[in-house]
Amino acid sequence: MKLPASFYQPLAIGAPAPYRELPMALERMIHFFPAHNEKVQAKIPGLIPNVDVILGNLEDAIPATAKEAARAGFIKVAQENDFAGTGLWTRVNALNSPWGLDDIVEIVSTVGDKLDVLMVPKVEGVWDIHYVDQLLAQLEAKNGIKKPILIHAILETAQGVKNVNEIAAASPRMHGMSLGPADLAASRGMKTTRVGGGHPFYGVIEDPKEDGSARVFAQQDLWHYTVARMVDACLSNGIRPFYGPFGDIADTEACKVQFRNSFLMGCVGAWSLHPVQIDIAKDVFSPDAGEVKFAMQILEAMPDGTGAVMIDGKMQDDATWKQAKVIVDLAKRVAEKDPERATAYGL
Ligand code: GLV
Ligand code: MG
Repeated sequence: MKLPASFYQPLAIGAPAPYRELPMALERMIHFFPAHNEKVQAKIPGLIPNVDVILGNLEDAIPATAKEAARAGFIKVAQENDFAGTGLWTRVNALNSPWGLDDIVEIVSTVGDKLDVLMVPKVEGVWDIHYVDQLLAQLEAKNGIKKPILIHAILETAQGVKNVNEIAAASPRMHGMSLGPADLAASRGMKTTRVGGGHPFYGVIEDPKEDGSARVFAQQDLWHYTVARMVDACLSNGIRPFYGPFGDIADTEACKVQFRNSFLMGCVGAWSLHPVQIDIAKDVFSPDAGEVKFAMQILEAMPDGTGAVMIDGKMQDDATWKQAKVIVDLAKRVAEKDPERATAYGL
């Protein structure tokens, strides 16, 4: 086992020191673009100011014949644009694929100084993180990169879920994790054909009625268990959990409900696969103005965060003060980027 004292040491001579705390960032949506598509590449300058994170996808959904073009397309987009406060991420191909190594080496060697986060798919255990961690340190050192590139794991195999706590704690380079419901469903042998969301047959039914009338059936959240495990693994290690993709682009209502469940459970953002999902994510992952105002009332009523007060008939104490602080801190981060919401929050 690595000594605790070595945990924050750079893994290569000349690589930047790992962060001891994650840099603050508003990451309500990770907006995916297919990096090989030239029409989409041309739209990136217009997208950058409208999203929190922009991610060039090289992995699934990119045909095998376009993998090299996607890698080159991402490098071109990274070189030609100024991302200002918007995060620049890429999702590379899996470590066991023919493309994963070249994706990492070529991208970090050319645009590593602009890349904030490397999303690694199909992470199964700490060995995957340790491999990428070491490789990134070597590439950072070789290319004189000053800011450590962070790692974001996709939780999308049964083995990965089993090892989720160890993955979250594997390296100071860990940024967070996203649920990958499509691959996870396949890996677990779930009997679905969807990318996230519910299923009409997964639910609970009320007991038989004496009068024989119809029993109410209510759909349940297929992802509750995994999101809960992911949130605990992430938050107990100081990293960030995200709901991943919602594939039914036309069903904006269900997308909103699925995103909102994850927000309430602790996630900070989700993927947007289509521009229509950008505003859904903004709406869901920015705290509600009413909640922000109530949270501010709690903070004001308990300036040192201790004791107990009643507000609108509801008991507040140190624990609700901490909840209120989570909401107000997030509202302040949102307000810095979003003048409309700043006004609605009174900030
Ligand atoms: C995402 O990569 C997923 O498999 O859902
Ligand atoms: Mg996947």
